[in-house]
Amino acid sequence: MSTEKLVRLWPASGVRVRSGDLELRWIDDELLVQLAETAGRGIHSPDVMPFEHPWTRGTPDEVARSVVGYQWNARTQVSPQRFVLELGVIADGVPVGVQGLVADDWAVLRRVQTGSWLGLEHQGRGIGRRMRVLALHLAFEGLGAVEAKSGAFADNPASNAVSTHVGYESDGAVRVAREGAAALHNNFRMTRERWMALRDAHAALLGAPVDLDGVEAFRAQIDAPLA
Ligand SMILES: CC(C)(COP(=O)(O)OP(=O)(O)OC[C@H]1O[C@@H](n2cnc3c(N)ncnc32)[C@H](O)[C@@H]1OP(=O)(O)O)[C@@H](O)C(=O)NCCC(=O)NCCS
Repeated sequence: MSTEKLVRLWPASGVRVRSGDLELRWIDDELLVQLAETAGRGIHSPDVMPFEHPWTRGTPDEVARSVVGYQWNARTQVSPQRFVLELGVIADGVPVGVQGLVADDWAVLRRVQTGSWLGLEHQGRGIGRRMRVLALHLAFEGLGAVEAKSGAFADNPASNAVSTHVGYESDGAVRVAREGAAALHNNFRMTRERWMALRDAHAALLGAPVDLDGVEAFRAQIDAPLA
């Protein structure tokens, strides 16, 4: 099937966000295999766990397979009640990780929750900050969100630093069960007003204008009148 036909049938597959050499785009099967292999090579050292569900434990093939299953399941979840938009992160032509947006009760709340990961070999070069700003651009400018949330375990300095650096406000902390023990999880919040106020800072952080593709058709899917 041609890409155009798929986009007509499933508009989420046409969503792209680009700025300079960084791109977020819908994860087709070819990109999925590349990202699964990236995850299999490692996302964090074994002595930490940045995720509530410890999907990164296991052999490289087990981790890769878990990425494939998760992403296939995510693809189907596009409706005004709830959407999951998982986008592959491509830096300078290389697939490096995933930036996801999840919106529960989207039609009512217009709120997204972001989550992300990068392959270990691609971390610490500022990609995490830039991809988060691109996700927020998509949410606020492209989709009309009024609020974006994120969160990270207190012992995940990189993820906490990304949220702080991008300008989120603290939204408290909760204790969460993680691998059989209680762990503190920080919540962060960005309102639409704050996003607007930080425009110049985000433009400087990105260093290049943002192009959105396929967003109108995707909005028709998630903003359809509630049944
Ligand atoms: C979280 C993640 C997406 C961030 O991406 P990244 O490209 O590594 O992050 P960046 O290089 O853009 O920036 C990281 C920030 O963390 C800081 N940082 C990174 N490692 C750190 C450490 N060990 N201690 C303190 N600060 C650290 C950097 O200095 C930078 O801070 P700044 O923005 O104030 O300058 C990435 O590290 C990752 O995938 N980690 C494993 C999976 C994960 O934690 N996912 C998120 C789950 S909530």
